[in-house]
Amino acid sequence: MNPEERINELIEQIDHYNFQYYQESISEISDFDFDILLKELAKLENEFPDFKRSDSPTQRVGGTVTKNFNAVYHRYPMLSLDNTYNEQELRDFDERVRKGLDGEAYEYICELKFDGISLSFTYENGVLVRGVTRGDGTRGDEITNNVKTIKSLPLRVKADKVPPIFEIRGEGFMPFQSFQKLNEDMEALGVNQYANPRNAASGSFKLQDSAETARRALDCYIYSFLSDETIFASHEESLLALKSWGFNTSPGWKKVDNIDDVIVYIHEWEEKRATLPLATDGIVIKINSFEQQRELGFTAKSPRWAISFKYKAENKPAILRSVNFQVGRTGNVTPVANLCAESERTVPYNKVKGVHLSGTYVKRATLHNANEMERLDIQLGDTVFVEKSGEIIPKITGVDVTKRGLFTTEHIAFPTNCPECGSLLARNEGEVAYYCPNDSACPPQLKGRIEHFIHRKAMNIDSLGEGKIELLFDTQLVRTPADLYDLTYEKLLGLEKNIVNEETGKSKKISFREKTVENILKGLELSKAAPFKNVLFGLGIRFVGATVAEKLAAYFKNITALRSATYEDLVNVPEIGGRIAQSVIAYFSVQENQLVMERLEKAGLQMTTDDKPVEMESNLLEGKTFVISGVFANFDRDELKHKIESNAGRILSGVSGKLNFLLAGDNMGPSKLEKARKLGVTILSEEEFLGMIEK
Ligand code: IVH
Repeated sequence: MNPEERINELIEQIDHYNFQYYQESISEISDFDFDILLKELAKLENEFPDFKRSDSPTQRVGGTVTKNFNAVYHRYPMLSLDNTYNEQELRDFDERVRKGLDGEAYEYICELKFDGISLSFTYENGVLVRGVTRGDGTRGDEITNNVKTIKSLPLRVKADKVPPIFEIRGEGFMPFQSFQKLNEDMEALGVNQYANPRNAASGSFKLQDSAETARRALDCYIYSFLSDETIFASHEESLLALKSWGFNTSPGWKKVDNIDDVIVYIHEWEEKRATLPLATDGIVIKINSFEQQRELGFTAKSPRWAISFKYKAENKPAILRSVNFQVGRTGNVTPVANLCAESERTVPYNKVKGVHLSGTYVKRATLHNANEMERLDIQLGDTVFVEKSGEIIPKITGVDVTKRGLFTTEHIAFPTNCPECGSLLARNEGEVAYYCPNDSACPPQLKGRIEHFIHRKAMNIDSLGEGKIELLFDTQLVRTPADLYDLTYEKLLGLEKNIVNEETGKSKKISFREKTVENILKGLELSKAAPFKNVLFGLGIRFVGATVAEKLAAYFKNITALRSATYEDLVNVPEIGGRIAQSVIAYFSVQENQLVMERLEKAGLQMTTDDKPVEMESNLLEGKTFVISGVFANFDRDELKHKIESNAGRILSGVSGKLNFLLAGDNMGPSKLEKARKLGVTILSEEEFLGMIEK
């Protein structure tokens, strides 16, 4: 047998054993013999690099180092799911589905909701060519070398006839066992541990050295298939096919045909999910038929054909050791409880592990605000109930007053002065939170604003982080975001600081060497290209989150128009209410803020949007509504959408009684057509539509 043939034969054998082991849990060969095959393959590939294949199992051990991950656009956006928390909300969802499908029968697929990070895998001609993180849903990081280390992920599919290009999505995760081991190793090395398996998975998929990713034994459950061609009629069909192609489809899914059975499934897994080797936080419910999924469509953020149900968070008793009052970016003061397990009452606090809750140890939890502390009449030494739900930081939900006595000492009062700068705290009428009004000098407010400014959704300067900002702040180089753009190589080089981790007492040295300084300056320079909406979000105006910033930027187009907008102008913007309007006006009326903005503008940041407003061609379609569906001969959908809007027509998201026209191209779903016919909606071809606006 020649080397090429032997290489191919070895790949086939190893893939087979891998598949049996990781997906069928069958060990057909000893670890030792398996290693011998793998070593022989690696040796041959070394000797005959021309025959080395990109889908070779030797890739799984990693070894490549990626300095910067490429940002790549998703072919299909990666959306998120709406959440429900109780039976009624689920029944409401079912009702919406029933209405949307106009009385057609439908089925649901129930799946577990895994708590990891969503990943997308692209296969070309059956071979894995790309693995990408979700990122912001439109664009993610390409981490192909790292995803290749997932042993259950086929590098080549086990099927002859597959679409030339298709995409697979799934949840990448770190099993509890690997998580515990990793944290033990990290503790031994004296480095910061991961807070939970999801953070660990997220960090590990983004390591530069894929060999280290390989060591961390990540895994992935596959839950969807996407391609331009329609080859499956239902989600069920796709899951079964994917399994037979060698994918590790998510275990435990079930087809049901009504919402009552969905609820039975939810109850069934409530306890059982604790036996799974990874974290789950709920159930995902999806319409089975792809045709019906298309009919129901999407909102801006999530599909209308799917929803998640979140289980109630686990709740446990813990001992309250002390309370810190934290001052945030907007000056709000939040009481944070320091906790320990009942068995740790006398353990020095820096040695405390905390209470075990849904897979991690918790030693801090929020007490919300002064009212809540008052309501609970919180006392030092109290036994409190702590709860963790998903990503949100743990919270205290109550006090076990029966445990009061010997250990409880004193009532804890909310401070009257800012614990950071001493200013007298204030409270706005109708609000529960106390805040520190010293927004121009209170350190955590200043630092918080800069941290917010560099955030991924704002200026996205990832060469700066909490520690570096702390250093820039301490040296008085940076107090406002505008100061960042005055930094120079000379000012930064050589700066140093020891940062002590409050929790562990360990210290870490931050020092600005050449490379660090270059990266910071490069990050700042690149940030000048960030769009206006990001700058607006980055300013940290109260109630102006990323979505509101986007709406304001799209409406006012530039900072000058926004700055001079009146209350009436602002509330005229769709979805902007009085609270936001007031906050925007308050922000721009402060002179220091105006100064910061002027300096940012001078530094070259984007203060206008590029989006061109729709130029009106006519009013011919005024009052008329349209849905565009299918593929067209002369225009793509965006162009048609533009034509409708520039002639004063409106686009609706689905076929309903309100719709006037369905603009129907090729390959559109037959049930949508039928529904439109039933409702008496006029169906237009591309030519007919063009005729309408040429009149
Ligand atoms: S389907 C349109 N199925 O939950 C989104 N997602 O909030 C379709 N997730 O980003 C996603 N388990 O990371 C789907 N069985 C499952 C899932 C699942 C976990 C995650 C996924 C997604 C998030 C949605």
